[in-house]
Amino acid sequence: MEKLNILNELADEIKTCPKCRLAETRTHAVPGEGSASARIMFVGEGPGENEDKTGRPFIGQAGKFLNGLLEKAGISRDDVFITNIVKCRPPANRVPLADEVEACSDYLMAQIAVIEPKFVIPLGGSSLKTLLGPDLKITQARCKVFRKSGILYIPLYHPAAALHRSALVETLQADILVLKEMLSRDIREDEITDLSAVVTKPKAKAASEPQDEKKDEKKKDDDKPADGTLSLF
Ligand code: URA
Ligand code: SF4
Repeated sequence: MEKLNILNELADEIKTCPKCRLAETRTHAVPGEGSASARIMFVGEGPGENEDKTGRPFIGQAGKFLNGLLEKAGISRDDVFITNIVKCRPPANRVPLADEVEACSDYLMAQIAVIEPKFVIPLGGSSLKTLLGPDLKITQARCKVFRKSGILYIPLYHPAAALHRSALVETLQADILVLKEMLSRDIREDEITDLSAVVTKPKAKAASEPQDEKKDEKKKDDDKPADGTLSLF
């Protein structure tokens, strides 16, 4: 079957998925969108209010900022694939819980397997930890290149983080230019950070424990999270 057909079938499954508690509170699931043969895939944390209303990823304030970053990098949204680690909005934009991420991960893994991107860009700590391992920190991993199963991962801060911490606007704008440069050429072996050097054995976590260590902090508004609800560290 063609990639697009498989992605559409996955999206249909996601739209009626009952596999975790987020199904009970969602308006629309947000499977993701973009090119079925994308060279680059962006993976955020989870849908926010606007995404839940429309079923489309990154269309609120964080999405607008992401669009600006993509433009700066000369990347068209139509050429990439944009999705999230959980496809349904966590209530009040809280960080997705470990069991929700686990329940939803088959969809993300299937999307990656079908699209076969050359690069995956985890946006923010939740996405980074889900995709590459719980020991990684976005502050240290941003703009580094990791390789897993033949795919190159280059994490960036989550665009919503910059909406609440203005210092990160410049950081992300600089990082996107670094990314642009790296996407335009072959990555050398000596630029690839050895994942086994940063990843220790995954710790067993309680099912209801949030992915992020800053679980007690509350968000301040309704687009994507304020400080603390995003896994910045
Ligand atoms: N933040 C995310 O992580 N994903 C979205 O789709 C929107 C905001
Ligand atoms: Fe299913 Fe994922 Fe939505 Fe949970 S978040 S109901 S696993 S699609």
